[in-house]
Amino acid sequence: MDMFVVRGGQPLQGRVAVSGAKNAALPIMAAALAADGPTTLYDVPDLVDVRTMTALLRTLGVAVDRVDNDALKLEVIDDRPAIAEYELVRRMRASVCVLGPLLGRRGRAAVSLPGGCNIGHRPIDLHLRGLEALGADIRIERGYVIAQARRLHGANLYLGGACGSTVTGTCNVMTAAVFAEGATTIEAAACEPEVEDLGRYLNGMGAQISGLGTPTLKIEGIDRLSGTTHRIIPDRIEAATLMIAAAITRGAVTLENVRADHMTAVIRKLEEIGVRFSRTTDGAIHVAGTGPLQPADCIALPYPAIPTDVQAQLTALLTQTEGISVVTDKVFPDRFMHVSEMARMGARVRREGQSAIIAGGEPLSGASVMASDLRASAALVLTALAAQGESVVRRIYHLDRGYEQFEERLRALGADIERVVDTPANVPASLNPLTAATPDSEAA
Ligand code: EPZ
Repeated sequence: MDMFVVRGGQPLQGRVAVSGAKNAALPIMAAALAADGPTTLYDVPDLVDVRTMTALLRTLGVAVDRVDNDALKLEVIDDRPAIAEYELVRRMRASVCVLGPLLGRRGRAAVSLPGGCNIGHRPIDLHLRGLEALGADIRIERGYVIAQARRLHGANLYLGGACGSTVTGTCNVMTAAVFAEGATTIEAAACEPEVEDLGRYLNGMGAQISGLGTPTLKIEGIDRLSGTTHRIIPDRIEAATLMIAAAITRGAVTLENVRADHMTAVIRKLEEIGVRFSRTTDGAIHVAGTGPLQPADCIALPYPAIPTDVQAQLTALLTQTEGISVVTDKVFPDRFMHVSEMARMGARVRREGQSAIIAGGEPLSGASVMASDLRASAALVLTALAAQGESVVRRIYHLDRGYEQFEERLRALGADIERVVDTPANVPASLNPLTAATPDSEAA
């Protein structure tokens, strides 16, 4: 198992390109199951989750090959398999995205119920309700969703839940509806850019989906989807993470391959905090955190609001601003496992219900901390970059699921960070409270 050793205090400087979006690539890869022909996807990041989806698709009769370093070629070579095994599904919740394509194109699917998750309760009742509205027969048996449908039929369905729309639920129902007989309207559909990108991919294969990017989708059923080529949109969550890395280290970084129009809420909030943005002549975005930073309140909501996947990173930044900030997550109200780890570095932050209350401005000191989920891991790395001294961030396998070569890219921007095996010998002596030099021991 690996860990990061981080020595904080270096302002990040330089230029980096943002990768393709994980949360677009995964449902689009799954939808390739439904194509009668080859798909080539460009800008697919090389992530653990992409490799897990690749392994899952191969068990479902899809040949998946990486061509060049950022493209995948996918082609169905056997359309009989229909079981998504627990062993693979338990590694990645997004495996559930094969349910809609399997049901739509092959008329049956057995998908293991996704396992638990560190960011809170994550049911799939809305996915199943939407597929049943399209005429699927669905039952839960021995930890699997068993779905069958001789022929799906169009429907007018509502997909909203208590915490708003469902991103992967919309992906599943939209893809299945492509094969339904007649027209389907989905109300309270997720508007996330990744859902829109999936819709554009499906339309590129011959689907007839309108309303993409809005809460109301209209899908005309068709019989088959051809192959196509498609470029994955830039990852707005990775871009936000890198913007906050520049800000929290008081540096200035230029980001390439950013869709600023997918990040309006995040950019506006960072500007409110004091981060400055400008366009470079070649269309990149320059992000400067060199000026004074102010506290701010943030509420994570479905798109186009601030994404839940950025709230932990914003919390890290707000520990550096003098004053009180409140960060609330209305999508995953329990997504605060990073708070206690940040407090280990001296941050004055505590959880209150679905919010984190931050009394910012305290200088942070390096510590040994533990990642708990993908975005919390990134937030802890950012916090360590701002802390004085050395930190260790453990369980970074969470981070490897969603960030490509994270430490190499931060190092290229001047961060002092290295990946080492998690052994006691690799823990810096400064983190051992009994041997670390402390002011009075130095004086003695
Ligand atoms: C997607 O997860 C993303 N994952 C998540 O990113 C992201 O945090 C989330 O959307 C919200 O934006 C992928 O796209 C692969 P939801 P998803 O269904 O689809 C409730 C990351 O870090 N809900 O939109 O699983 C649910 O409990 C990951 O990259 C139901 O009640 O999220 C939550 O409160 C983490 N019933 C809310 O809706 C359902 O059937 C939003 O969940 C489905 C969801």
